Parts: sequence; C-alpha cells; structure tokens
Amino acid sequence: MRNCLIGMLALAALGPACVALATDGKALAAAQGIPYPAVIAHRGASYDAPESTKPAYLLARELGADYLELDLQRTRDGVLVVVHDDELSRTSDVAKRFPERKHSPVSAFTLAELKSLDAGSWFNEAYPARARASFANLPILTLDEVIDIAEGNPQRQPGLYIETKVPSQFPGIERQLKERLKARGWLDRPGRVVVQTFDRNSLALLHETMPQVPKILLLWVGTKAIAPASGHDFAGSGESDKAAFYARQHPKSRAEFLRWLDLAKQGGAIGTGPSAKRGKLGEQSYADLIEPWMNQASHERGLLVHVYTLDEAQDFDAAMKAGVDGIFTNRAGALLRFYDRAAERETAVPKRLGY
Ligand code: G3P
Ligand code: CA
Repeated sequence: MRNCLIGMLALAALGPACVALATDGKALAAAQGIPYPAVIAHRGASYDAPESTKPAYLLARELGADYLELDLQRTRDGVLVVVHDDELSRTSDVAKRFPERKHSPVSAFTLAELKSLDAGSWFNEAYPARARASFANLPILTLDEVIDIAEGNPQRQPGLYIETKVPSQFPGIERQLKERLKARGWLDRPGRVVVQTFDRNSLALLHETMPQVPKILLLWVGTKAIAPASGHDFAGSGESDKAAFYARQHPKSRAEFLRWLDLAKQGGAIGTGPSAKRGKLGEQSYADLIEPWMNQASHERGLLVHVYTLDEAQDFDAAMKAGVDGIFTNRAGALLRFYDRAAERETAVPKRLGY
C-alpha cells in the first residue's frame, strides 16, 4: 500500500496531464526511484570477469551499471554470501579442496571454508579469450563486501538488486537481509535497493520485513511457476538441449500468465522479472515471457518489467520494442552502449582496477 501511495503522490506531483502515464513503465519506475531503462549487472559484469566476484562487481560499477545483481545465500555459520548455484562445483575448486562435499549445498560450508575456495580459475579455463592471471584465487564474497564495492566510488554509485536464492533452505534470511541493509544505511535510499525472488513465500516475507523496498517477482514457466502449455518441465521432458526446450515453452493460457501478474501484485511486488528467449539461444536462454501483450498487461496493473538475461544488441532492441523497463545483463558495457550511456570500454577497465 505504501509503494502504491508513493507512486500516486509522484504521479500527482507531475500534474494532471501526466496521470495518463500511470501505466507507462517510465512513470512507474520514477515513482519507485528506479532508473529507466534499468541496467542490471547480472552477477556483476559476469561476461568479462568471474561471476559474483570482486572484479565482476567493480567492473559493473565503473562502467556505470544502475544495479549490481546478486544471489543471496547463507553459510553454515550464518553469514550472508553471494553465490548463484545451490552447490559450488561449477564456479570453484570445491571438488579439489573438499572432494567428498563437492555437491553439498552452499549452506553446508562455513565462511572460512568458502573463503578458502578459488572462485576465479574456472572462468579462465571456461573462457580463455577473457582470462586474466589475476582472476585466479578470487574469493567468494559476503553481502557486506558487495555493499562495500557499491559504496566504493563516490562518482559511481550503483544500487543493489538482491535475489533470495532457494530461500526455503534459509529460514529467516529475509529478516537477516533487512537487518544488514538497515545496519548499512541502505533502507533509507528509495530505489537504491531492489529485492527479487522466484518464491512467493519469500516475496511475502520480504514485503512483511521491508514494506518500503521495491520488490520484483521473478517469472518462469515450469514447476511451482507459470504452468506450461506442454504440461511438463525440462527434467521430465527427456530432452538434452535446455535452451531449445525452453524456447518452445509457453504459459498454458493467457489467463495463467495474468494470474501470476495478479499474484505478484497481491504479494507486494512493484514489478516482475520475466525470463526471455535469446535470439541465439544458448546458456541463459529460457521461455519468452516478454511478448508485447504480456508487458502491456503488467503495465496496466502498475507493474514494471525487468527481463532476464540478455547480452546481445539485437535482443536488447527486441526487448525494448516489446516494452520492457530494464534488462538483466552479463554484459553491462554492451547494454550501456546500446542505451548510449557507455563512458568506457569494458576491456580498458580491469587494468585500471589492478586486474
Ligand atoms: O535474478 C534474475 C535472474 O538472475 C534469475 O536467474 O538463475 O540467473 O538467478 P538466475
Ligand atoms: Ca539472480
């Protein structure tokens, strides 16, 4: 209700001529203090540096991203850390350091154990053309360390876009997040922090603990999400090409998609984060949930649309033409160039930062 009131006051301040803009994404964003269109650096500048590490977030900040996106989990000894996957095997040397626990969840490790892992060398091996010797032995970051990065340059002050990841594994994480943000003075900055989740229960808890903070319900076609027309999820499909499978997935009906918009609204979200199909498919290409009618329906309900995760100019262009209000991207530099906001080439920045 408070968000709604702020939005109405902001629109009223613009004058009667602007009331017609109530369903316009730009006005909805302005009412929340959210940049439009928003550049959301997905796991940092994770195309150019190992995801969720210091150089990835420093680079995103220096390039001028509006938000540093991060996935929040909790260590066995109760510290909030920034890791995307449930387990550590893809993005660290856990298999070498703790072979018997290589598939254990993040929550099974203490902070000291996580800090002993090398979260950078995998990137050099996976992407030799973007490898840097200085990426070896990068540590996993805590939430506080990402906040330090966001606050580290008075000339470049990105916000935080925080996802509660598998929140059912971490009872109380919403309240713990609120306490850290409060302690760091981030709850008094309208639009500087946005919280996001796929989990409706976590959305409710985030809304209860931080009613004033903008919240995004992430949208997905599949189990415990928007029911698919195909009737099955990837795991039950027998297919091996995930992107090709998801490219064929659609909500089972228009009403089913609209039902999820209503659930987002009722849960206190100010917007949704729908998945998108990439032009070239590949990793991080999912079901297309940004058809123009979908974005229009979101705006009609007063909901912003921040789509995940696009990296190519053709996809940025198609998404903007379809009516989205911001984009999660691994390539913050490319998206800033697309919006004519780039100050520096991303290849020049790591050296200046000491990487
Ligand atoms: O948080 C939006 C987007 O990041 C969701 O996908 O799996 O990359 O966290 P994922
Ligand atoms: Ca995320």
